[in-house]
Amino acid sequence: MLYKHLIKPLFFRFDAEKVHHFVTSSLKTAFKIPGVRRCIKSYCTVQSPNLEKEVFGLHFKNPVGLAAGFDKNADFVNEMGAFGFGFIETGAVTPLPQPGNPKPRLFRLPEDKALINRMGFNNKGVDYHARQLIKRPKDLIIGVNLGKNMETPNEKAADDYLLLFERLFDYADYFVINVSCPNITDLHELQDKDFLLEIIGKIQNKNRRKPKPKPVLLKISPDLNNHQLDEVIEIVKESKLSGVIAINTTVSRDGLQTGNDKVKKIGRGGLSGLPLKQRALETIRYLSEKSGKAFPIIGVGGIFTPGDAKAMLEAGADLIQIYTGFIYEGPLVVKKINKYLEKTYKSA
Ligand code: FNR
Repeated sequence: MLYKHLIKPLFFRFDAEKVHHFVTSSLKTAFKIPGVRRCIKSYCTVQSPNLEKEVFGLHFKNPVGLAAGFDKNADFVNEMGAFGFGFIETGAVTPLPQPGNPKPRLFRLPEDKALINRMGFNNKGVDYHARQLIKRPKDLIIGVNLGKNMETPNEKAADDYLLLFERLFDYADYFVINVSCPNITDLHELQDKDFLLEIIGKIQNKNRRKPKPKPVLLKISPDLNNHQLDEVIEIVKESKLSGVIAINTTVSRDGLQTGNDKVKKIGRGGLSGLPLKQRALETIRYLSEKSGKAFPIIGVGGIFTPGDAKAMLEAGADLIQIYTGFIYEGPLVVKKINKYLEKTYKSA
């Protein structure tokens, strides 16, 4: 109530990216006060065996995760972990630091409960990311979302992904190959089977030689057709990936309530939030049914309510993630979803 009626209307008057930095750095300061983290964590966390899940060999305390892009540099894993998430995905991280696209590059579409972003993998690079993850909490699952540098041509992209995997191997619990961000020129071409098999092959070769290999997942775009989704299924099976994250942001602007002029003025970028929900459900259902549930799926896109989360799990997702819904609904949405799932699973 407080968030939706007071805090959100105030925040929404200011530039979206500035608010993001203000909120995350304020959290960091507040968490330095002794007892703050403990209080928030105990208020927001729902603990129950009904929520616990074993997925790709990892034990999740609950199935609700923070999606990639919120904590690009792994600066806030301690803080965000206190809001009751079962796991957090940091990144996208690239080998070298890069500024991303010119600002403004993050826009709200309140009529659609959506965001459009063209951040362009702004991040402080892999060395910084590794230093941050050394300080990570051990009782929370952390995945890292891997991207290539803007300057790296697609022919050399596999080297970027391999470097990131090797450098961060010891610090994260799972890894995500992200070739589905619409804001990096030609990145989507890496979703072609040959490119993907090369990137995944190099990573899995390295992974297999580790005493204890770690889960590697592929994050896919909502803009793939069924033929491309069939290829994804083949690739995951052939290269023994641990699973798929569906879906990233879309380049589509279909069916938006926001006026055409405003949408045009914003320009290019990936759309997230409520307009993604149907596409996310369709994609997850397709992958799950067509593959015969051959691999785990993390469902993400347009989750705002406990009902949305349940629908995504019923469509075939094993875990879910949230980003835009967290901005619109406020931090208590994680607790709300977990409480509802806890009750639903108990009575099932
Ligand atoms: C994202 N997303 C994203 N995904 C990814 O794989 N790597 C990234 O770096 C980012 N960066 C990013 C920045 C911003 C500002 C947004 C809004 C989103 C996509 C995100 O993880 C998720 O897949 C989509 O936003 C869909 O989920 P929601 O937002 O509808 O819950």
